[in-house]
Amino acid sequence: MIKTIETPRLYLREFTIEDAQLLIDLNSNPNVIRYTGDGPVKDLDEAKRILNDIIFPQYKNKMGRWAVHLKSNDEFIGWCGLKFIADDNEIDLGYRFFENHWGKGYASESAKAVLDYGVNTLKLKNIIARAAKDNPASIAVIQKLGFVYLKDEYCGHDPAEVYHYT
Ligand SMILES: CC(C)(COP(=O)(O)OP(=O)(O)OC[C@H]1O[C@@H](n2cnc3c(N)ncnc32)[C@H](O)[C@@H]1OP(=O)(O)O)[C@@H](O)C(=O)NCCC(=O)NCCS
Repeated sequence: MIKTIETPRLYLREFTIEDAQLLIDLNSNPNVIRYTGDGPVKDLDEAKRILNDIIFPQYKNKMGRWAVHLKSNDEFIGWCGLKFIADDNEIDLGYRFFENHWGKGYASESAKAVLDYGVNTLKLKNIIARAAKDNPASIAVIQKLGFVYLKDEYCGHDPAEVYHYT
């Protein structure tokens, strides 16, 4: 296992191809993907394609979406991490957790550690985070981390806010 970051309650690690089912499970709840701009992962082939084509290539830049686990019992609770978006030449901070783990501070705890890693270890200068206006929990996390509002934009049909951390 390639562990990347540790926090008081959590550890983050690189996904592997064996994690395909976890991506299916996480996206299977409509509440989880309501504001994320993607849909359910339909089968193991699609999950493996996402891992191979989208998630793994990020790891060569020492960043990426990392699996988040509870230290207490090793349970997989979701993912958090930095993603380089080549089309916009920007680094995006994102996170997603199973609904039964919302409201426990895990997004804030993991995202803070990921942000610190991006700023202090990777020396990144301009990290972006975006959230739908109707997703107040995500906006609260972004604001608590010290991101500053940059602009409004649409995420699919959803009005969204873009923040940056410089
Ligand atoms: C958004 C998400 C990651 C938040 O995760 P979480 O672990 O519940 O977040 P935290 O517990 O760290 O913090 C949530 C904050 O939002 C606040 N919050 C929650 N619901 C809120 C609401 N309706 N209005 C205002 N604030 C709200 C909480 O009070 C908390 O702030 P606090 O710590 O200052 O009290 C989680 O809901 C999720 O995975 N959603 C589905 C995927 C998703 O939308 N990802 C983000 C895409 S941009």
